[in-house]
Amino acid sequence: MNVRDEYIKFFESKGHKQIPSSPIVPENDPTVLFNTAGMQPLVPYLMGEVHPYGKRLCDYQKCVRLTDLDEIGDGTHHTFFEMLGNWSLGDYFKHESIEYSFDFLTKVLNIPLERLAVTVFKGDENIPLDEVSADRWKELGISSDRIAYLDDNFWIAGDSGPCGSDTEIFYFRSDEEIPDKFDPEDERWVEIWNNVFMEFYKDENGNISELKQKNVDTGMGLERIVSVMEGVDDNYLSSIWKDVIDLICEITGLPYEGNEKAMRIVADHIRTATFIAADPAKVKPSNTDRGYILRRLIRRFIRYAKKLGIDINSDFDEKISLLIIDKYFKYYPELNDNKKEVLEVLKNEKVKFNRTLEKGLREFDKLLKNSNTVDKNIAFKLYDTYGFPIELTVEEAEVRGMDVDVDGFYEKFHEHQEKSRTASKGMFKGGLLGHSEIETKYHTATHLLNAALKKVVDSSCCQLGSNITTERMRFDFPCDHKLSDDEKKEVEDLVNKWIEEDYPVTKEEMSKDEAVKSGAECRFIEKYPDIVSVYSIGDFSKELCGGPHVSHTGEIGHFKIKKEQSSGAGVRRIKAIIE
Ligand code: ALA
Repeated sequence: MNVRDEYIKFFESKGHKQIPSSPIVPENDPTVLFNTAGMQPLVPYLMGEVHPYGKRLCDYQKCVRLTDLDEIGDGTHHTFFEMLGNWSLGDYFKHESIEYSFDFLTKVLNIPLERLAVTVFKGDENIPLDEVSADRWKELGISSDRIAYLDDNFWIAGDSGPCGSDTEIFYFRSDEEIPDKFDPEDERWVEIWNNVFMEFYKDENGNISELKQKNVDTGMGLERIVSVMEGVDDNYLSSIWKDVIDLICEITGLPYEGNEKAMRIVADHIRTATFIAADPAKVKPSNTDRGYILRRLIRRFIRYAKKLGIDINSDFDEKISLLIIDKYFKYYPELNDNKKEVLEVLKNEKVKFNRTLEKGLREFDKLLKNSNTVDKNIAFKLYDTYGFPIELTVEEAEVRGMDVDVDGFYEKFHEHQEKSRTASKGMFKGGLLGHSEIETKYHTATHLLNAALKKVVDSSCCQLGSNITTERMRFDFPCDHKLSDDEKKEVEDLVNKWIEEDYPVTKEEMSKDEAVKSGAECRFIEKYPDIVSVYSIGDFSKELCGGPHVSHTGEIGHFKIKKEQSSGAGVRRIKAIIE
């Protein structure tokens, strides 16, 4: 059974529209490095903005969670995973949400009732115990013994944002006798699904207020549910990973048994690096933010590949990455589109790492000539300057009979992290600082394209995503068909006509309310400060936007559509250039 497809089919049958997975690098939320949950790209809509697909949505979303890289290597943690989710944006609430989850699990996946248990919110000084959810579970057949009331059944992504109490669903994963009473501490019960009832908003100061609408946000990890359905308790033995692990066994000539940790790390990190490098944001390994994460993942899998005896100058990583691209591109076409870049990223970083490693080892011996311990400063320098992960330092030190101040290293490491977090906040504050002239032109061309699509294709076209580099612009919009050559030509001609007519681009500042009232297109309005800028061109384009823009459309040059393709169900993507 293909759980992913069944999930989407089930929720579509309940009136949900499938939305495409957003990029892992959030397009409109600079506060997070990667999407960590299906709800993240939906924040503006949970806050009340109207979603172009309606009030009932479902999807599978690419997520990256890096809270504890060191846990990777066990059978159940991954740095990248897919989250199945369904949402009600001010439509149904607890009653239907719980029923849908129950029906999907018991009627579609055919999980026996006796293997299920749930937790609900116990209540606190502000929010009462969630009797409604508990009663609904009982009506559906979950016995009181299988319902646990917990304090921490409250969910929020990060520190502030939409939030609410949740009910979590657990599955008894063991051949042993199933106890009547559910004990959430008993590890044989594994959480499979989380239904969050998002009716509150928590601001930066911790104040909680009610949202305009009551939403449902659910999330089910695909890797976990697939391994549950396939009866394995090591995710890497499920159909999601089996062929990747088999390939690693083939490359190394070693069995999985006895080499689990290193093989899981190689598999997991190559998959995540592949997805990050293929993401539209085109992240490259570097020493800051997302690039740094990518670098760490690549260097870490190289280290573990070495441990497995793999010749790291071989194309082992390319082989594994290609297998992953092959497995997933049906669901994420960007993997195939950006295959070349992915392989380049892996190759270049490997070469760099090899060079630093050699230099680092020489430095290692130099730094330690007069010492028999590796103090925190040396450990940090090796890490910071030579890219030595601490475990490498520990190993190299062991070979030389030395101790390492690992705690001291982590102290310095956290200080450093704090600093780079602050620095990256600063970097994002201006948002659009540093835009070149060509990028500015692309920004205005994006507004023209948006307006032209509305006129030529359908008035409901709007911006679902946009990405600009110095080389091209990219624009995602809802549309149920491939654009015909005539449509493309008409859009192109209209944009070029507007460019030739040299309209002034005017900017007005106003409050968000005024912006909405003025009829401006106000996507992602929640992400903007109280006073927003609205840019208008002629009588055909009016959009809330952070800019920057050219002052007259004539400055743009000639607009040309290079590619028009699908970007998920019901979403089309245009890539265009200015000549
Ligand atoms: N957003 C919720 C989660 O990630 C569903 O668990």
